[in-house]
Amino acid sequence: MKELEIRKYYKKKINELKNHNKLYFEKSSPKISDGQYDKTKQEILDLEKKYSFLKSDSSPSTTLGYTPSKNFVKSKHRVKMLSLSNAFDIADLKNFEKKIFNYLNDKINVEYSVEPKIDGISASLTYKNGFFVTGTSRGDGTTGEEITENLKTISDIPHKIINKDFPKDIDIRGEVFIKKSDFNKLKNDFANPRNAASGSLRQKNPAETKKIPLNFIAYTYGYFEMDKIKRQSDFLNSLKKWGFKTNQYNKVLKTIEDLENFHKKFEHDRFDLEYDVDGLVYKINSLELQKRLGFTANSPRWAIAHKFSADSAYSQITDINIQVGRTGALTPVARIKPVNIGGVVVSNATLHNEDEIIRKDIRIGDTVKVERAGDVIPHVILVDLKKRDKKSKKFLFPKNCPSCGSETIKEFNKITKKYDAVRRCINEGYDCEKTSIEKIKHFISKEALNIDGLGKKVVEKFWDLKLIRFPYDIFNLDYIQISKLEGWGDLSVSNLKYSIDKSKKVSFDRFLYSIGIRHIGIENAKLLAEYTKSITNFLNFVKNEKLNEFLNIDGIGETQINSLKKFFENKSNYIIIEKLSSLLNIQDLKINKDGKLLNNTFMFTGKLTNMSRAEAKSLIEENSGSVVSSVNKKLKYLIIGEKPTTRKVQQAKELGIKILSQKEWLNLLD
Ligand code: IVH
Repeated sequence: MKELEIRKYYKKKINELKNHNKLYFEKSSPKISDGQYDKTKQEILDLEKKYSFLKSDSSPSTTLGYTPSKNFVKSKHRVKMLSLSNAFDIADLKNFEKKIFNYLNDKINVEYSVEPKIDGISASLTYKNGFFVTGTSRGDGTTGEEITENLKTISDIPHKIINKDFPKDIDIRGEVFIKKSDFNKLKNDFANPRNAASGSLRQKNPAETKKIPLNFIAYTYGYFEMDKIKRQSDFLNSLKKWGFKTNQYNKVLKTIEDLENFHKKFEHDRFDLEYDVDGLVYKINSLELQKRLGFTANSPRWAIAHKFSADSAYSQITDINIQVGRTGALTPVARIKPVNIGGVVVSNATLHNEDEIIRKDIRIGDTVKVERAGDVIPHVILVDLKKRDKKSKKFLFPKNCPSCGSETIKEFNKITKKYDAVRRCINEGYDCEKTSIEKIKHFISKEALNIDGLGKKVVEKFWDLKLIRFPYDIFNLDYIQISKLEGWGDLSVSNLKYSIDKSKKVSFDRFLYSIGIRHIGIENAKLLAEYTKSITNFLNFVKNEKLNEFLNIDGIGETQINSLKKFFENKSNYIIIEKLSSLLNIQDLKINKDGKLLNNTFMFTGKLTNMSRAEAKSLIEENSGSVVSSVNKKLKYLIIGEKPTTRKVQQAKELGIKILSQKEWLNLLD
């Protein structure tokens, strides 16, 4: 099968599985047998193993958190497991309280049971005559999965309760979760502790669940004949008495202001907790009032979850490391105590550059606010000076490259008349280890050679094994040696070989970009490629020291020219490109050979009307002409715009070169 067909087939299978999940869990009417379901699931997993390019958010390999499993028997909850409505700010809280007063038609003195909202998986445990008889996951709130045996492996869950006050028949509900320290050992397999807890609970074999240390904290009840207990806080105390773990931070508060203050403090300190908390739950403490208030369709009127920000969190800097980028830029990165920001555990935050550290006076040990919004890399937005240790010292930015020990500099920008905020290693070639690795990672990246199967991690591994030192080594890999490495099978090696071979055919502009010359991004690479047409031509410009000619290109300025010059001053860079051009099939930009202007050379001087230089140049090239940048015998026409350079016009006249106005030139083209 071809890649496209494989992708199509895989998508079809994923959609099939999605439909069956829906039929089973939402409609309770499965159309296939469990055996057939498992077969489809296995087929998807096998395809992913075989073809590393297959990925889907709905794959059973990634959706441990929510994909309902067919490994368990379904079980209807005696009392529905509802969810909570959310509050994000004080206005939402005031509104929540106002609605309560309106509903009760009374402005009562309320008391709230305040409980940390642990970000785990809720479970309902049925106890009859003191024995834990069935345990169920939340499922869709009405029906869950019976996971009794898995829950029994959790040491926080008592199997037998002998306390005489313990109700004869009760559902105890609470959160199953994994501690951050335990998650740390599993972080390669799951995005966050919640997914890890979910994955562990859903293991078919309880022995597997036992391998991942799960915890349980109790906070409410389902089915329960209430008698003596009058308040939620009393219920929490009873839970403790009966032998359940409850949250040590549970408390009772009275006013919205108290709630807000506690929330602020908790949000600020949560990174130091042993487990992930994504907000606080406020419940009207009186069970009688709870009963009066009742429920809306999905949630109780008497409780609300006050969420923490999903795009920022406080944490503490444990260390500051300096990373070296492909252009030698030194980027400081803060290692922080892991904190869950909107479902992603963040343990690193960029500090951008040396100036940023100085401006914010960021130090190791500081408590900082970290933002992670959208796809932006997590970064430090402020330092909480109140939390700073008096003995802390300013962070000293290294003056030498931490990778190769070379001198580092801050460049002076002639335009802004300021020193650059970024400090750089002066070693822009392949003599600096970290720079080299980053250059190779850039070379294989999506916009560059786009070598699937050779990800960043693989580059690092191959570097450590000395399999690659320069980009051209990629095309001389020892596949036999690779197939013997751990984690590499015949299939993954043949996939790698396939994508490397495929990448050999590359357009000239992409190739120019892939080299990773500073200031030569995708757009500039295109401009240079359009101007020089082929790698041979381009290298001739370099060899003949004619890089200044690129100033004729609209969009290319001194910054780019200087960067190109600096790059090629290092002779090894030139050699690397030559080697690559002999190994690769670099596609020239197509030149039209039968246009009206064939064999005619042009040059411009002065400003053109209604047309940029780039457009004028393209127009000439589309008609098979060429544009040069100096007046010499090879030049056929000098095109004069507004305010031409007198010297150029003079030279042209002396050499007998035809001089055209813009209009005359356009007439040549009709
Ligand atoms: S009470 C009807 N209390 O939050 C009230 N829930 O969206 C039901 N949670 O599924 C829940 N800590 O997984 C309650 N102290 C707490 C909680 C808590 C975490 C979770 C639970 C539930 C979700 C509600």
